[in-house]
Amino acid sequence: MTTASRAETQPVGGAEGDGCEVGGVRLPRPFKIRRFGHFGYNCEHIDEMLDFYVGGLGLIISDQSGTMPARLPADQQANLTPNEKLLHFTRFGSDHHQLVFISQQVWDWVGRDNGSAGASINQITWQVGSLAEVVNGSEWIWGRGERLLRSGRDMPGSNWHTYLFDTEGHINELFYGMEQIGWDGLSKPRELWTGVLNERPELPQPSETREVDLARRTGIELTSGHQPTPDGAAAYPVDGIVMTRPFKIVGIGPVSIFVDDLERATGFYRDVLGFNVRAQVSWDAHHGVLLSSGTEHHSLALYETGLRAALDLPTRLDSMALGFRLANYRQLRAAVQFMKDRGAEELSIPAELVPGFDYVTHLRDPDGNLVQLYYYQRECGPTDPDPQTISGGAAQWPELIDAPQDVYGGQQYFGPWE
Ligand SMILES: [Fe+2]
Repeated sequence: MTTASRAETQPVGGAEGDGCEVGGVRLPRPFKIRRFGHFGYNCEHIDEMLDFYVGGLGLIISDQSGTMPARLPADQQANLTPNEKLLHFTRFGSDHHQLVFISQQVWDWVGRDNGSAGASINQITWQVGSLAEVVNGSEWIWGRGERLLRSGRDMPGSNWHTYLFDTEGHINELFYGMEQIGWDGLSKPRELWTGVLNERPELPQPSETREVDLARRTGIELTSGHQPTPDGAAAYPVDGIVMTRPFKIVGIGPVSIFVDDLERATGFYRDVLGFNVRAQVSWDAHHGVLLSSGTEHHSLALYETGLRAALDLPTRLDSMALGFRLANYRQLRAAVQFMKDRGAEELSIPAELVPGFDYVTHLRDPDGNLVQLYYYQRECGPTDPDPQTISGGAAQWPELIDAPQDVYGGQQYFGPWE
């Protein structure tokens, strides 16, 4: 999560060089985005947002933290509602957080020094392959003269990170090592939140296994973290399981954002963060660019800001939509009906703007953000020939190899390494 910090800027001057070694593979930059990890909304109606996403869509609260709101001046804190005095970390899978809710009033104060006050997006977050990729990526991005926010490690969630701004001022995060929630639903004990770091870490760092073992030996009760309780009565038989709602969200992304300068923003995500342009789209003279970091059709969509008014979306919104994948097609239809029965409004976005799906629809959340629901997104395999297979004789293999076109495509590893 982001905390208040002075934005850092440095003149352009870094060199891209001839390539970077990442785990023995030659890549254009010292990190590779593996997947869309989590997202944060700054909320005007946080009670209603929590009801929509937790009560409606079934996200699970993994932790609630009052650390950031407590930094506000006392007179401003007095104006906050109970839910505005907390950051709400939610998930649908084993990642500690996949969607975070923050009071707009809180963020407007926290972001006042770095230009992000007023933003509706709190963060757009991408998992890279290792802690070294976070740190080396931070230095490489800094060397290119891009605008960094801060680096370090945040609690709750335990993820190591670098925050940076895109060309439009949207805050992006590169991270490694998200805390994984297991069978008992327990998050880490609050005593471990002392592991917050607000500077670029020295490498190497101890593994999480070592941290947990140290905590145990120092007497921290490892089962004292947050544990959710089931919400509501189990009522729906869903593909063999009795569920509290007739569907399960199983994936997050793509994220679709508005940009004033589409060409410049596309250049940032392509050249700095390493995305590939998958498709260019347009509707009614409004243009967009869809980008991917792996074999997914797209995990990021950039749309010209004029589209916001054309779709009659609130002017405060920085994003058009956040995608959620349902477990299957029947559950997708059930989810839409379930949310409409709760009062949600469904919108039909022009199909030309959202290729890569067969069936996709959008709901409006209480702040006006769109929720993009689908069960399938096209996978796009490599177009180059199969690689030449070298089998056996590993001692004679080269130390550094060129990256196959779809290197790191497919299923991704989620949590810390050890
Ligand atoms: Fe984050």
